[in-house]
Amino acid sequence: EDADKLRAFQERIDAEERIEPNDWMPEAYRRTLVRQISQHAHSEIIGMQPEGNWITRAPSLRRKAALLAKVQDECGHGLYLYAAAETLGVAREEMVDQLLAGKAKYSSIFNYPTLTWADIGAIGWLVDGAAIMNQIPLCRCSYGPYARAMIRVCKEESFHQRQGYEIMLTLCRGNAAQKEMAQDALNRWWWPCLMMFGPPDSASQHTDASTKWKIKRFTNDELRQKFIDATVPQAHYLGLTVPDPELRYDEASGHWQHGAIDWEEFKQVIAGNGPCNAQRMERRRQTEEDGAWVREAARAFAEKEKRRHRV
Ligand code: ACO
Repeated sequence: EDADKLRAFQERIDAEERIEPNDWMPEAYRRTLVRQISQHAHSEIIGMQPEGNWITRAPSLRRKAALLAKVQDECGHGLYLYAAAETLGVAREEMVDQLLAGKAKYSSIFNYPTLTWADIGAIGWLVDGAAIMNQIPLCRCSYGPYARAMIRVCKEESFHQRQGYEIMLTLCRGNAAQKEMAQDALNRWWWPCLMMFGPPDSASQHTDASTKWKIKRFTNDELRQKFIDATVPQAHYLGLTVPDPELRYDEASGHWQHGAIDWEEFKQVIAGNGPCNAQRMERRRQTEEDGAWVREAARAFAEKEKRRHRV
């Protein structure tokens, strides 16, 4: 009977039908989605920290308003994603507890520091640019609630990418010190951004199953290549140098070929040993504690309302 159900499920996937929360699904499909969507949600929430670091130091009121809105958007993305994961039968509290206990992963990229204002430009341009490359195909993911959440997320990410590129353009058209700052930010963010796409296909344990289930539409290496091809000409337009001496355009394939990625660094960051892992987790735990009274008040209010309506 299970084999019949599995076959019917795969046929629906192959026919590009959307799977909805109350539909039958294999346990492994559910687990993969809970893993990916919760990691994605945690990334959005932790990802508020590196940029939040610059809200009070943005160089103008206009920059401050845009950055504030962007960081709030990231929070909203985290909330839609937790809600999408909850449709798979996992409680938000459980996901948050796993993050706070240091058991859940979040994107490696958010463990790097934001040292100068140019880092805010580089994050918008490169980190959000990489996020869009990875997330546009997720709008066609087989699981309905995740795919639908991604549509709005991608629209907002594309505004974020634009605001980041515009910061870089302004710096690159500024004085020599400003241009130097932009180059330094690109030097520090380039390689970690390439790592965001995940391990090389040869080492990616989940790609085959996720591709079969149409959760993933492209492999990690394919998306990484698309990102490089889109981004290198943007760096050139800015007049910046991509920090990869082996980078060269291959006429035959039409792709930019890159040098070797330091996968040892990636492993270390994922294992908790990146430059800011400890700080990010400490801040997240502290914020959770500081917000306890708000949750308590909301629960008390909900109880009171329930009692009032019962009478
Ligand atoms: N940072 C941290 N962990 C990572 C990263 C990364 N950049 N890339 C891969 N991993 C982890 C995977 O989560 C997996 O760990 P697990 O088995 O403990 O869950 C392991 O490394 C092996 O990787 P894959 O087999 O390639 O995993 P997967 O098929 O899930 O592909 C990917 C990874 C591409 C990140 C996928 O999960 C995905 O598309 N996620 C949704 C997008 C997302 O999370 N973006 C977050 C950053 S963007 C932003 O928030 C602005």
